[in-house]
Amino acid sequence: MSNAPTVRGLFLTALRRPVLVRPSDADPAIVLDKTTPVPADVTLPVVVRMGEETYEVSAPARGEREISGRVALVTGGAQGFGAEIAKGLVEQGCFVYIADLNGDGAAAKCAELGRDRTHPITVNVGDEDSVAAMTAEVERTTGGLDLVISNAGIVRAGSVLEQDLAAFKLSTDINYVAFFLVTKHLGGLLARQRETAPGWLTDIIQINSKSGLVGSNKNGAYAGSKFGGIGLVQSFALELVEHGIKVNAVCPGNFYDGPLWSDPDKGLFVQYLNSGKVPGAKTVEDVKAFYEAKVPMRRGTTGIDVLRAIYYIVEQAYETGQAVPVTGGQVMLNA
Ligand SMILES: NC(=O)c1ccc[n+]([C@@H]2O[C@H](COP(=O)([O-])OP(=O)(O)OC[C@H]3O[C@@H](n4cnc5c(N)ncnc54)[C@H](O)[C@@H]3O)[C@@H](O)[C@H]2O)c1
Repeated sequence: MSNAPTVRGLFLTALRRPVLVRPSDADPAIVLDKTTPVPADVTLPVVVRMGEETYEVSAPARGEREISGRVALVTGGAQGFGAEIAKGLVEQGCFVYIADLNGDGAAAKCAELGRDRTHPITVNVGDEDSVAAMTAEVERTTGGLDLVISNAGIVRAGSVLEQDLAAFKLSTDINYVAFFLVTKHLGGLLARQRETAPGWLTDIIQINSKSGLVGSNKNGAYAGSKFGGIGLVQSFALELVEHGIKVNAVCPGNFYDGPLWSDPDKGLFVQYLNSGKVPGAKTVEDVKAFYEAKVPMRRGTTGIDVLRAIYYIVEQAYETGQAVPVTGGQVMLNA
């Protein structure tokens, strides 16, 4: 463990804005210890020393939004909702880690969005050593962070009477257990940073699903893992509030334009057309129209719909332990 989260916390306290804390070989302009306040008029970038370590502290540009300039990490950011979220956050001036099992995909997405604003990490969120290594990489690269989007997820649909135990367990490991691992390790980093930034709120947001709010036919492994995620969100929110960490979920409806549904070879629309799941459907468009008709607003969820929920949660300082549905009215909360 380094002093980087402590340094970041001191700057968050002094400047009330996100900063990047990176190892440096330059001569320090300021020597800090845990109890030394950073001068509020310090100009960035600045090189500081704490203990044996030297860091350059700089800051991303900020716009009008509260969320802008934050350091964020998106798991499963190489494609689908995660890629849309990463893109939207970069457009808001955030520095974004794109962390994905598909390391090449994460690197390609970072290259597309700009390597000065992004950093790719190869991670398996279902593996504790891998999540710990991801956390160490964040600590080494920016000293800490402000926003975790736990988005990586998988679907293994199937009848309870027929599904393999292995498929059920994989769904549970990636959609449910991995949220515990990500919160345990990145939440630990957020808590360390908070020790010198007692007024700075951070966020962990799970991308859950409408299937975390209502059951899903022949899709119990998925729905069960997502329902469980809401229980973790509520419980982690209660515990982590003392570390200034808000924990919430966004529950999107189906992302019909994303690869999960629209991939021309293995997307769910093609699968449902070929399996005859939608009576009378002759084309992919027929299948899509059938599913869109289930939504009161007559369309699927898009990246910007999910992003607006994320902006709301981050910018609303007085919200924790909640699950925000973004479903075009398809699923509503029960009183
Ligand atoms: N697509 C939808 O209709 C929909 C609807 C509601 C909620 N969701 C949720 O949104 C999230 C993203 O879904 P999507 O449709 O964009 O998925 P996707 O399959 O398009 O992308 C998922 C990404 O996660 C990565 N990933 C998978 N397993 C991983 C692991 N073990 N470690 C790290 N990365 C891993 C994949 O490589 C991929 O880049 C999921 O949690 C999903 O449950 C999706």
